[in-house]
Amino acid sequence: MKIAVVGTGYVGLVSGTCFASIGHEVICIDNDQSKIDNLKNNGIIPIYEPGLEELVKRNVEEGRLSFTTDLNAAVKQASAVFIAVGTPPRPDNGQADLKYVYQVAEEIANAIDKFTVVIDKSTVPIGTAEEVDAIIKKVNPKADFAVVSNPEFLREGSAINDFLEGDRVVVGVENEQAEKVMAEIYKPLSKSGMPVVMTKVRTAEMIKYASNTFLAVKLGFINEISDLCEKVGADIQEVAYSMGLDTRIGEKFLQAGPGFGGSCFPKDTKALKYIADSLADDSKDKNATRLTIVNATIESNLNRKEVMARKVKTILGKTLKGKKVAVLGVAFKANTDDCRESPALNVIKEIQARRGDVVAFDPVAMNEAKKVTTNIKFAKNEYEACEGADAVVILTEWPQFASLDLDKVKSNLKSPLIIDLRNMLDPNEVKQKGFEYHSIGR
Ligand code: UGA
Repeated sequence: MKIAVVGTGYVGLVSGTCFASIGHEVICIDNDQSKIDNLKNNGIIPIYEPGLEELVKRNVEEGRLSFTTDLNAAVKQASAVFIAVGTPPRPDNGQADLKYVYQVAEEIANAIDKFTVVIDKSTVPIGTAEEVDAIIKKVNPKADFAVVSNPEFLREGSAINDFLEGDRVVVGVENEQAEKVMAEIYKPLSKSGMPVVMTKVRTAEMIKYASNTFLAVKLGFINEISDLCEKVGADIQEVAYSMGLDTRIGEKFLQAGPGFGGSCFPKDTKALKYIADSLADDSKDKNATRLTIVNATIESNLNRKEVMARKVKTILGKTLKGKKVAVLGVAFKANTDDCRESPALNVIKEIQARRGDVVAFDPVAMNEAKKVTTNIKFAKNEYEACEGADAVVILTEWPQFASLDLDKVKSNLKSPLIIDLRNMLDPNEVKQKGFEYHSIGR
């Protein structure tokens, strides 16, 4: 199958490459010439994603994956065109901004000259596929096409595996011919047992928001229980483990932490809230659907990041003038260089507001961290960050921080104080080594 993917950002590049790796002929399109040149000529990947560079290289070499800025030519060749451009939140109300999706829909419309399936892969509000359909019809009334919704469930850091061995594929489709095309695209995965769920278009759009928001709710919940554990003398690690053994609850997404970040959960929870709010006639509308749980999750997470910053302040003291704090991890989670909405930023700001100096180390996210922080120093590794520091704060769950050489850390630190906001270390071991140790929920 010939597939075009518009947008070589995170979703587009991973999806396009994975479609190629399951045997399709894929052309990825972007209007950023330098991005395309880099991908084409130098194999330079614009994002950090484990395994992606090798997979891109292999598929390019084997002739299934190519890159272009020429949308018109690429769409003309393809039977299926995926829209995978950004839908950033509007700063005022969290509503997903669809201008890029609609611009691309217009361009695709002009290029369609045979039956073409146009697929929304970007995370978009319910009803967007209908809007894309209307745009294409308006721009090119003769176009033979169908619009499909096919949300992605890729996590940064494990996106390739999530694509090739994910839990399910969801396809919202209401046109028989398009359904056949979608079944064909995912045949290599469905043949190996992956459920491919075909639903109505609006249902597929809703599944994406409901899934991300549910996971965010689960995180908000466990983080609040973690705080309570701390107050009542229970251990959140054991609470979460035992809760997770109940298959109705499930073990995943129960690791308490400093709050969820990244580009998806904060954005999608706000977008879902906006959708519900915008359907209410006014604030007194008795029939309006009030997403009280979602609203509480958004608020709880904002609060969480502040609570973590305050916790650090309480431990380190009100004024940190002349003190140095080592920060381990700036990325919003491990296996990514993404620092968007990272809880680490709140903690760094708090230390700086108390006039403390920050020396940070992140195995992958240093360049991104430099863009979103000011006046911090960066160390070559975790041990250099600890040199002469009055305390160390662990903020991202990079596996290497779980196996820190504690003797080395202790001899590098000025005072042996560890604040572990990811519960990476064993409290008994750390205390035995003579550290003052603070973690969360235990
Ligand atoms: C999330 C979803 O997991 C994907 O399924 C979805 O496709 C993606 O959003 C998207 O909409 O594009 P992602 O944002 O990459 O993926 O990251 P997650 O692995 O879900 O982590 C989100 C946040 O939750 C991170 O801040 C992480 O540290 C936190 N988290 C996760 C915890 O604090 N505890 C956990 O047990 C799990």
